[in-house]
Amino acid sequence: MEVALILLAAGKGTRMQSDLPKVLHPIAHAPLLEHAMASGAALEPARTVVVAGHGADLVRAAAQEFDEEAVVVVQDEQLGTAHAVAQARHALAGFEGTAIVLYGDTPFVQSETLEAMCTALTNNDVVVLGFEAAVPARYGRLVMDGDSLDRIVEFKDATDEERAITLCNSGVVACKSELLFDLIDAVGNDNASEEYYLTDIIGIARARGLKATAVTCIEAETMGVNSRADLAAADAAFQARTRAQMLETGVTLMAPDTVYFARDTYIGRDTVIEPNVVFGPGVTVESGATIRAFSHLEGCHVSRGGIIGPYARLRPGAELSEDVRIGNFVEIKNAQIAEGAKVNHLSYIGDAAIGARANIGAGTITCNYDGVMKHHTHIGANAFIGSNTMLVAPVHIGDGAMTGSGSVITSDVEADALALSRAPQVEKPGMARKLFEILKAKKAKQQRGS
Ligand code: UD1
Ligand code: MG
Repeated sequence: MEVALILLAAGKGTRMQSDLPKVLHPIAHAPLLEHAMASGAALEPARTVVVAGHGADLVRAAAQEFDEEAVVVVQDEQLGTAHAVAQARHALAGFEGTAIVLYGDTPFVQSETLEAMCTALTNNDVVVLGFEAAVPARYGRLVMDGDSLDRIVEFKDATDEERAITLCNSGVVACKSELLFDLIDAVGNDNASEEYYLTDIIGIARARGLKATAVTCIEAETMGVNSRADLAAADAAFQARTRAQMLETGVTLMAPDTVYFARDTYIGRDTVIEPNVVFGPGVTVESGATIRAFSHLEGCHVSRGGIIGPYARLRPGAELSEDVRIGNFVEIKNAQIAEGAKVNHLSYIGDAAIGARANIGAGTITCNYDGVMKHHTHIGANAFIGSNTMLVAPVHIGDGAMTGSGSVITSDVEADALALSRAPQVEKPGMARKLFEILKAKKAKQQRGS
């Protein structure tokens, strides 16, 4: 059956103490909302509706950056979770499949768990995701009747006996879309919070003779974020899980706890990651590469056999072909580096293409910015760029060409040519010795005088 996602993301997140809507705070370089959308995306939803409130324009932009077809509806007043879901009604008009309600601030619900809920829905009318809470605190409690879910009671409205229940409500619900909105119509706000509780749909469904049940997952999946401390804890949990997955899929992490991954980091097997490496968003590393210590990568691709770092910085648009070597204190931005090329020391390569097996000497800079516009540098295959060459873009260095150390290259160099642009060397025999004598005499005179 087709699936639609409804993501609740209207809450302000007061405890974040932030101008940014809570669901846009990132873990692993991606907004919380994106994590929640990604777990639902595995079900290939026919429609995705995000219910925004505080900071709705920012939430819309983030939602549509992940899924440009996502529909964002605005809940002007936060009157409760049932009221929030009701805002999605028009966006789901005519949709006849299963609606799944997720929270934008609950990033770790696994796709397999959502699939299990869809399966349970084949014999039930409503399925709720529950978990055994170590500390049930203020969660809603699931009141079971054998395998059936009889009702959900909110903590504030619960009796002592109900508060003793440890099976808690995660908030995730699966229900046939039309039935969901039908049940929501019957929800009132006569409760301790005077809110329209989505949880009330269970009691309403049971009273109508419909069947409800709970699917359970581990507590870690239902972890929600309400504060900066929660955000840090959620990020730590994400990192721990990702490191374990990387190790399992054949990536060597020399010091796992010191490597930071983004939500979308991809690393092929037999790649070695040394300590203290940071992955920003959009990085793919093929098999058999080595990322050496203290490197920082974002928006880049490293091919098979590449050796990066230590202390390298790969910025967005760095596309490295096979067996490329990028050494210490080298920054690469928006540049294609062809196979076997080497940029080993202290260089900036930006807005450039470097040919196969070219060797870029220490201290080379592509001067790509004139203060107003960016310009391109092309370096041909097998070229040899002497140390401390300034390549003033736009400039084209032909295949097999050389530049002399310390040159400032302002015009194109043809293939196989040597370009030099520096003052010719002069030599004055004996002059160094004479200079030393003069200087030493001067110093001795000063010391006598003092
Ligand atoms: C809710 C559940 C509770 C469950 C808990 C799990 C209800 C009534 N209670 O309680 O059973 O154990 O989540 O964390 O559903 N939201 C809106 N608009 C609103 C209200 C909420 O978009 O008008 C969003 C919030 O931004 C949040 C989510 O819905 O992402 C849950 O709301 P929250 O106020 O945190 O509900 P809880 O009281 O925690
Ligand atoms: Mg909550």
